[in-house]
Amino acid sequence: MSHYLRLGSVPAKRHIEHRHEPGYKGEGIYYEEVVTLAGFARAYSIVYHLKPPTRVKKIEPAGLAAVEYLPPDTLKHVHLKTREIPTAGDAVTGRIPMFGNGDVLMSRCRPAEAQKELYRNATADEVLFIHRGKGTLHTHFGPLPFKPFDYVVIPRCTTYRVDFEPGTPADLLIIESTGTVGIPPTYLNPDGQVRLGAPYSERDLHGPTEIGTVDREADVPVLVKADGRLTRYIMSHHPFDVVGWDGFVYPYTFNADDFEPITGTIHQPPPIHQTFEAPGFVICTFAPRYLDHHPQAIKVPYAHSNVECDEVLYYVRGHFGSRRGVEESSFTLHPRGIPHGPHPGTIVASRPMTRTDELAVMLDTFRPLHTAVAGAKYDDPSYPYSWVD
Ligand SMILES: [Fe+2]
Repeated sequence: MSHYLRLGSVPAKRHIEHRHEPGYKGEGIYYEEVVTLAGFARAYSIVYHLKPPTRVKKIEPAGLAAVEYLPPDTLKHVHLKTREIPTAGDAVTGRIPMFGNGDVLMSRCRPAEAQKELYRNATADEVLFIHRGKGTLHTHFGPLPFKPFDYVVIPRCTTYRVDFEPGTPADLLIIESTGTVGIPPTYLNPDGQVRLGAPYSERDLHGPTEIGTVDREADVPVLVKADGRLTRYIMSHHPFDVVGWDGFVYPYTFNADDFEPITGTIHQPPPIHQTFEAPGFVICTFAPRYLDHHPQAIKVPYAHSNVECDEVLYYVRGHFGSRRGVEESSFTLHPRGIPHGPHPGTIVASRPMTRTDELAVMLDTFRPLHTAVAGAKYDDPSYPYSWVD
């Protein structure tokens, strides 16, 4: 995040006694927890708990979370059709991995039930893209509402529960990042503010607006994912016992429909769609926009070979002008080194168009991506040959 937030009760200085508010269970202090990125070298928040966040009663193994990938095969374009993946598990346990490498994992999830246990990812930032459904992300920073087409950015080590409103469909794309997910540095001025001309501003980034203190002494399980294994921690109190916090680290939402597209008389290159950046990859938003308006403009992207980049598109909404055969919830993977471009007929078909209503999420990764065994079930084997008339 690029800006400072402060909620609830916070003392005048860091690392001093924060005495109970008058009336709260007698004399005592709230317990400080410093939540950091990159050790202590980057952004941080300071959180004040009713109880020390270290009160663990029991630790038990909870299984493995390793992803199995297909062995190396021929180099080819891939199309996964995931609209009809089964509903299963909850927003954590129901995830089906699709593509990944050492920097990032992309999964799909259509939860069948409410999240059973609190969860924290100890080794990855998570971006939940809400394809369908609305609800609230509950964390110790306070409740954070979300709606369709929100990116919900969750810093690593945030304990959370995703609650979808009953009766609404729940459909997620999940991006787990080994490195910190942030605003592209090119969008920031030297003062740390989002530049004029960037495709969004601080007003489009929404953090929690209230504290949701839970004061409950009870055994509360928290499922922790780290390095391919799951561990269940039984806490002796509810970890959302926070009375206040301040800082730069907290979960926030950004809605894809708030992305201000950059357009021109001729086709603009993919970096204009960039939304977030992380070590090893970028996240981009293909938002509805006016198409190129030079009288002879070719309004769909030119063929290219993704030099030193693997490119995944996740199709969210609308008609995608340069593609045939893709549908909502399709993924395409166009790996480095082999050309892809508009499908036959799409250049001519786009000539009279002035706008596109497409909405898609794109990841460009700097290291090769691998297809997960679980995701390969949804493969469309005819896709690599779909450019032949
Ligand atoms: Fe491309």
